[in-house]
Amino acid sequence: MDKLIIEGPNKLSGEVEISCSKNAYLPIMCGALLTKEEVCFTKLPNLFDIRTMKRLLGDLGVSIKPHSSEKGTEYFCAENITKKEASYDLVKTMRAGVLVLGPLLARFKEAKVSLPGGCAIGTRPIDIHLKALEKMNAEITTEGGYVIAKTTGLKGATITFPFPSVGATENTMMAATLADGVTIIENAALEPEIEDLGKFLISMGAKIDGLGTSVLRIQGVPALHGTEYQAIPDRIEAITYLMAALATKGDVKIKNIIPAHFESVWSMLIDHGAKLEIGPDFIKTSPSEISPLVIETRPYPGFPTDAQAQTMALMAVMNGSSVITENIFENRFMHVPEMMRLSAKITLKGPTAIVTGGEKLIGAPVMCTDLRASAALVLTALCAEGKSEVRRIYHLDRGYENLDQKFKVLGAKIERVPE
Ligand code: EPZ
Repeated sequence: MDKLIIEGPNKLSGEVEISCSKNAYLPIMCGALLTKEEVCFTKLPNLFDIRTMKRLLGDLGVSIKPHSSEKGTEYFCAENITKKEASYDLVKTMRAGVLVLGPLLARFKEAKVSLPGGCAIGTRPIDIHLKALEKMNAEITTEGGYVIAKTTGLKGATITFPFPSVGATENTMMAATLADGVTIIENAALEPEIEDLGKFLISMGAKIDGLGTSVLRIQGVPALHGTEYQAIPDRIEAITYLMAALATKGDVKIKNIIPAHFESVWSMLIDHGAKLEIGPDFIKTSPSEISPLVIETRPYPGFPTDAQAQTMALMAVMNGSSVITENIFENRFMHVPEMMRLSAKITLKGPTAIVTGGEKLIGAPVMCTDLRASAALVLTALCAEGKSEVRRIYHLDRGYENLDQKFKVLGAKIERVPE
C-alpha cells in the first residue's frame, strides 16, 4: 500500500491534461458485450477501476488486447463469451460491475451478477435497475448475494424511473438496444456519461433518440456491430484540479475538457468571484477571492455529488462560512473528520456541512476512506502548513490517473512512498 507525503502550502501553476472519463468508460466497456465483433477503445485511462472492469470482462470470456504501440488503445471482442456470471470478489471492489447485467441479458438471455453490496458512501441498492429489467420481460431472483436473471427474450417497455439513477439508466439503455420493440425510459439520468454511452451504442448500430433529455426512446435491433470509440474527458477529474487551483490561489490551465459538462460548477464559482477564463476545451484559473458558497448536490445538471468533497476543501481555505448539502448519498461526509485533523473548521448537521475557512490549516497524517474523499484530503493537505501524510491512497488510484505526477508538474511538493 502507498501513501502520499505532501509539504504545504503550495501555489499551483502550469498546465494539466485531463484523462478520459472513468464513469463514461466503465458502462461503455460493458457495452462491448452487446456485439460479437471487435470494439476498439482509445485513451482508456490507466485506473484501478478500469483494470478491474477488464478483469471482470476477461473472466466472462471477452478477449482484450492492447495496441502494439499506442498507449491506452485496446481491442475488446466478446465473440466467445464462456461465462455469464460476474463474481462477488470482482463486483464488491467495483460496483460498476452490475452494468454487465443489461448487456448479458440482452445478448445471452441470462446473467448472474453479484449484488454490489454497499460502499463507504451508502447502501447503494440496485432496485431501480432490477424493476426496469423485469418490465422488459426478465425474470429476476436474488439468491446467495447474487442477482439471477433470465429471459425468453427482452421486450421493449415504457419505464418511468422514480429517481434518475445513472446506473439504472445505463443498464436499461444497453438492455433495450437488442430488445424486441421500443423501450421508452422516462426520468432518465441526464449526466454527460449517459449521452456518451448512447453515442457509443449508436456507433454500434443502436437506434436511440432523446439523448441529452430525460426521455430516451430505444428501438431494439437484431444485432450490433463493432466500432472504435473514445470516451469524453473526465469532468470530475477536471473539477478536482479546478478546486485545487482555486484553493491554492494558483495560475493553472486545465486542458482537454468539455466546459459545458460542468457549467453548474464553474458558473457558480464565477458568480462568487472566481477569476476563470473558459475556453472551448480548457479552463484557466487566476488567484481569486471567492465569497462564501451555499451549495446543494443534485442530479445533473445540478451540482455533482462527486464534486462535494473537493469543494469542501476549497471552502476550508476561503474566508467566511460556506454551506454544502449532500442530497444524493446518505454517508458521503467521511472526509470531514479527516479534514478536521488538518484543522479545517467544519460542523455537520445531518446532510449539511458548514465550513468556516480563513484560519491556517496545519499538516497531519490523514486516512482515505473513498475515492472523492481522498481527493479532498490531498487538496486540503496542499493548502496546509507543513507535512501531511495521506494514507490508503488505493482509493485515489481507483479514479485518478497519475494524480501525484500531475500535481508535481503543477509545482506541488508531493511524493508517493510505500506505506
Ligand atoms: C454513478 O453511480 C457514479 N458511478 C457515481 O460516481 C456517482 O456518484 C453517481 O452516479 C451519481 O452521480 C459511476 O458512474 C461508475 P445512481 P450510480 O444510480 O450509478 C440511489 C465516483 O465517485 N439508487 O445515480 O451508483 C443510490 O442509492 C462514483 O466516481 C437507488 O436507490 O449512481 C444513490 O443514493 C461514486 N436504487 C442515488 O440513487 C437504484 O437502483 C444515486 O445513484 C439505484 C440508485
